Amino acid sequence: MPPAKSRPSRKTAANPHDQLGQDLLHWYDRHRRRLPWRALPGGHVPPYAVWLSEIMLQQTTVTAVKPYFEKFLGLWPTVEDLAAAPVTDVMREWAGLGYYARARNLHKCAGVVAAEHGGVFPETEDGLRALPGIGPYTAAAITAIAFGKRAVVVDGNVERVMARMFKVTEPLPGCKETLRAHAADLTPEQRAGDYAQAVMDLGATVCTPKSPACVICPWSHACKARKAGIAETLPRKIKKADVPLKRGIAYWMVRADGCVALTRRPPKGLLGGMLEIPSSAWLKQTAHSTPPVQAKWRALPGIVMHTFTHFRLELAVEAADLTAAQVKKLGPDVIWTPLDEVGEAGLPSVMAKVAAHAMASIGVLS
Ligand code: ADE
Repeated sequence: MPPAKSRPSRKTAANPHDQLGQDLLHWYDRHRRRLPWRALPGGHVPPYAVWLSEIMLQQTTVTAVKPYFEKFLGLWPTVEDLAAAPVTDVMREWAGLGYYARARNLHKCAGVVAAEHGGVFPETEDGLRALPGIGPYTAAAITAIAFGKRAVVVDGNVERVMARMFKVTEPLPGCKETLRAHAADLTPEQRAGDYAQAVMDLGATVCTPKSPACVICPWSHACKARKAGIAETLPRKIKKADVPLKRGIAYWMVRADGCVALTRRPPKGLLGGMLEIPSSAWLKQTAHSTPPVQAKWRALPGIVMHTFTHFRLELAVEAADLTAAQVKKLGPDVIWTPLDEVGEAGLPSVMAKVAAHAMASIGVLS
């Protein structure tokens, strides 16, 4: 955070890289995004809140994270509070944010910090990396932002800015080390957390993937890609293979008292530990699937589509009203949930879509 009332010096630095750092910090003091996990000038954000925000921001946009961050801090104001919460509560509150392994690791990490570190986060990158769910990027970000120590923080935004500043034309991911080396060269000793977040903000608001706003960029005078007129084309990327399509069937089962059948997925793997509407295996080829119980099944019109990182999914939905005998056959692991509570049950996005689709088709919502 900036020193209480002073601005960064605008004197010319001896080292041109130091000057770039100062120019960026000066820009950040005027244009930084006001985000709930950032201190007001002179303020302080506890390491717990910095860690929470950084875990949530892994692979998720700032806009999506804001309400979750505020909700989590409200429910669990300290790392000890989070550690003491049942993991199913944490998973439920995380629902909709995606990449659910992060939620399980978040809870695990809170447990380790509370039990083995007296509730105090380690202050070094190595100490942080030893904790569940904290990789090199997150360790560096926490070191810089929470503890004000110099650390080289490289995320997708930083990579884009470095590729353009230094006109790195080799495609990603091959040039990652080159980009990191450039990021290290530019990283100053002072105001480590502000500098890290300033490069992120520059990438998110000025040096954007499409149509970068070079005319208002504090680094445009030094940007080699801009000079060559190729800023927008960098970083180059090796084209990814098309994501495969998988298909499956979700089974919407309603009991006579209006409760719907949910089950919990196994703890490991995709959507691990999350609630789901029971469904067939998700496969590339359409295979015949047997419903969880023999009943009068009807196929609902339409299809539910969802995109995961590595594949797209199309789910057909079949529905049945179950008799008491059929309910019994399903066994004790089913979580029978009143229809009007399904929205708050903590379904991951794909399953929330299935529930909305089923309820709209059957007319619960009409
Ligand atoms: N992305 C990851 N960490 C961030 C932060 N602290 N501020 C803005 N965007 C981010």
